[in-house]
Amino acid sequence: MSILETSHLRLRLFRPDDFDDLARIYADPEVRRYFPDGTLDRTQTKEELDWSIAGGDGDRPGFVLHALIERRSERLIGRAGLLSWEIDGALEVEIAYLVDRSFWRRGYGGEIARALVRHGFETLGLHRLIALIHPNNTASIRTAERAGLRLERQTTVEGSPCLIYSISRSPPLPLPDGRYG
Ligand SMILES: CC(C)(COP(=O)(O)OP(=O)(O)OC[C@H]1O[C@@H](n2cnc3c(N)ncnc32)[C@H](O)[C@@H]1OP(=O)(O)O)[C@@H](O)C(=O)NCCC(=O)NCCS
Repeated sequence: MSILETSHLRLRLFRPDDFDDLARIYADPEVRRYFPDGTLDRTQTKEELDWSIAGGDGDRPGFVLHALIERRSERLIGRAGLLSWEIDGALEVEIAYLVDRSFWRRGYGGEIARALVRHGFETLGLHRLIALIHPNNTASIRTAERAGLRLERQTTVEGSPCLIYSISRSPPLPLPDGRYG
């Protein structure tokens, strides 16, 4: 089932047969360069895939990673989604994106990041979204900025330095008669 579609991409629920493609992408040290846990082996990939297919954590269902599909080729070219985190004592929703290295620099990262922001605000009614980014991850910083997020602060997440980029939905403007359209 599709979660959302953009001009070139589709986000759909993960399936068990996505495993080999996902494991290949997660084994690439360049793709996983700025993740504290580095590359994932097949066992770790299977655990994450199973978690996504099962719908995530029971107390925050639906905040999982999804398969990122290139519409033209129908190939799995990464994963993306909205993830729920507790950061510095506050519940936050992160836009998460990761693209297979052979598909970088085609605009796909920015396209899915913008779509996730729209989905979070317009479909899910969220008011604030963040990106958690290693300070040296220039590509991710540019991708977050292309989606309208701005640097908020630096913190530490699971022992690693991390920039928090954020975007908040503007409050709706009241109509002239005082109602909200
Ligand atoms: C971050 C990532 C998703 C970007 O994907 P992408 O498809 O290459 O992104 P785009 O082509 O849409 O580019 C988005 C912006 O980043 C810039 N960018 C992309 N790669 C870059 C790089 N290596 N260095 C500097 N800027 C880069 C692009 O120029 C563009 O900015 P612009 O529109 O101002 O020119 C991809 O690099 C990736 O998957 N990295 C590994 C996983 C990861 O780190 N995910 C984020 C975790 S926080």
